[in-house]
Amino acid sequence: MQEGRLRWDTSLANLVFSQQYLHIATNVPSSSVFGFGEHQHPSFKHNMNHIAYGMYTKDQSPKMYANLYGVHPFYMCIEKDSNTHGVLFLNSNAQDVTLCPEPSLTFRTIGGVLDFYIFLGPTPENVIQQYTETIGRPHLPPYWSLGYQLSRWGYPNIGAVEKVVRRMEQYGIPYDVQYGDIDYMDRQLDFTYDKDNYAGLPEFIQELKKDGLHYVIILDPFLSKDQSRGTYQPYELGEQLGIWVNNSDGVTPAVGKALSPGNSVYPDYSNPKTADWWTQMCVQFHNVLPYDGIWIDMNEPSNFLNGQISGCAHNNLNYPPYVPRISDYSLFQNTLCPDSKSFLGDLYDTHSLFGWSEAAPTFQAIKEATGKRPFVLSRSTFVGNGKYTAHWLGDNHAVWEDMHMSIIGILEFNLFGIPQVGADICGFYYDTTLELCLRWTQLGAFYPLSRNHNAIGQKEQDPAVFGIEFAAIARSTLQIRYSLLPYLYTLFYEAHAFGNTVARGLMHEFTADPETHGIDTAFLWGSALMIAPVLQEGARSVDVYFPEAPWFDYYTGDKVPASSHNKYASIHAPLEKIPLFIRGGYILPTQTPATRTAKSRLNPFGLVVALDDQGEASGSLFWDDGESIDTVENGIYFFARYTYREGHLKTSIVDNNYRGVNSLSYDMIQFLGVTSRPNGVTVNGKSIRSSDIHFQGNGKLIVHISAPLGEELDLMLQ
Ligand code: GLC
Repeated sequence: MQEGRLRWDTSLANLVFSQQYLHIATNVPSSSVFGFGEHQHPSFKHNMNHIAYGMYTKDQSPKMYANLYGVHPFYMCIEKDSNTHGVLFLNSNAQDVTLCPEPSLTFRTIGGVLDFYIFLGPTPENVIQQYTETIGRPHLPPYWSLGYQLSRWGYPNIGAVEKVVRRMEQYGIPYDVQYGDIDYMDRQLDFTYDKDNYAGLPEFIQELKKDGLHYVIILDPFLSKDQSRGTYQPYELGEQLGIWVNNSDGVTPAVGKALSPGNSVYPDYSNPKTADWWTQMCVQFHNVLPYDGIWIDMNEPSNFLNGQISGCAHNNLNYPPYVPRISDYSLFQNTLCPDSKSFLGDLYDTHSLFGWSEAAPTFQAIKEATGKRPFVLSRSTFVGNGKYTAHWLGDNHAVWEDMHMSIIGILEFNLFGIPQVGADICGFYYDTTLELCLRWTQLGAFYPLSRNHNAIGQKEQDPAVFGIEFAAIARSTLQIRYSLLPYLYTLFYEAHAFGNTVARGLMHEFTADPETHGIDTAFLWGSALMIAPVLQEGARSVDVYFPEAPWFDYYTGDKVPASSHNKYASIHAPLEKIPLFIRGGYILPTQTPATRTAKSRLNPFGLVVALDDQGEASGSLFWDDGESIDTVENGIYFFARYTYREGHLKTSIVDNNYRGVNSLSYDMIQFLGVTSRPNGVTVNGKSIRSSDIHFQGNGKLIVHISAPLGEELDLMLQ
């Protein structure tokens, strides 16, 4: 950080601090501003031309500039000398921020206090590390949840799910997770299942588990209050306990209308009693349906009415003097009235915390129910959600533009400390098309959360439904994902332990190159893998920008010529290929893929050693059993560091407390950027047969070895 630099200068306008209107404006040192959520907008780097973003959680299908499901009043700014800082405005009231060309930012909120946190970086990664240190580091996801996930709303019965599982199997497409959307429920009531159309669901889930699959169920945060007495225990118990969000009188439950039959009440998760009840309900339900994870939806919270059944009274909370720039300028459109009461206070202040407050009790419930590491997927999020949940970007559309927007959303949620994020692959609303779905499957294979999901009434769009050619491409692309899962998992470990991002924009790594600030059509996994998807219909090439670094084509190992550095180069991308590049200087751990992570986790490991211009590289591997709780905190893991220098690849084992590594081994080391065929290769002093050494003219060298993962590897190129 450079001393004496002005990052906040509020002399621009008067500070206003009044009962229901707080206003502060500041100049910012550059217009390379990123963040603020949750919104859909056309570029990762913000347009500063008088753009206003409202922030108030809302059940809103992604729509340009509108306030969506989550609230993240956090931004990052790259200064002119590429030092970077971040700022959190910790405030849960309805608010907006206006971005202006000076460049400046104006914050307006209608309650709370002006509570700003500044993170001085100086690199973008440092900013996110500091930010997540403050708000809570992302949890370490279960390994299986990094596998491919399939979902849809509108599987009419269990037979329809079975059919999909079978065709995925038939084509050998990697796949780890099957979801049950509201279809599995009896009349869309939480904690029930449909005994007609989903008869035998518990046994079916057990079968899936035997096959290495995992089952995630949806739960909605409203309970029907109109079931016959004695038939719906979750509601009756909650009613007895008095744990719902209440009307402004603080006594009678707030009643809205949601999916389930009749009218509904809303659990007030900010009340510890509600959290206990919810945990108890989820644990109890696990005895009925042995789910592995929970998908918490509609938790903005959503309501099919505007306010309660009886409407919202005309008062200052429901109709404040200033309404921020949120959809329809209404604080109760499709949600409860702001004067409703929660344990923490008026919904006027706590509305946007609803989904956030549901996260920890759900996380806790899965821990208790399964005894394993939780996976919670949440639609609504607030500052700090990453500690408990993953996120998906909501009800997008099967259009090419949304595919591009998804990259922006994914990069933003990595800034918000929720790195396990993805968009509905192939699109939620509208019927997808073969080409769109194929390209989206390729891109989605590189979402940190890779889930195909679809709305009721739309055509089926799982990767096995389009026939053999599509299936073959999906299979080979997902095999790349699965082979790179050890690298991805290590990135998630780094996110959990140090707060790093998992998917990151090129600007994180090449901050001094201003061209990278505007790039959101390509992104990185960690520092070392660039993903440059096709985002246009009919395109068979992509213009890829190569910042100054050695880059290798993932498929061939060809080095990108230095003449293409700091430039866009047109990269061939036939239908079967998503362009991928490995950055020199890095070592990536890999594993032979399989159709389930349960199997791939037992397969041989490999290393991809991509050399930099000095002929050096480094990397690491984090490994544990992938499912126990708190393995990092309890130190029950394996961690190895790899370095390559002067023809010498060495592992140093830093932590070796996971016994499972004893049955694992390396079988292949790939080098990229080797200048000549080595005369020989030794591993731990023993020569490798020349038939196990393959050198390609382009500098790619493959060495087949057999060495235990749990012992230090010492490989010499002679
Ligand atoms: C909401 C969710 C969507 C889900 C649907 C039915 O629209 O965002 O993913 O499929 O509800 O539960």
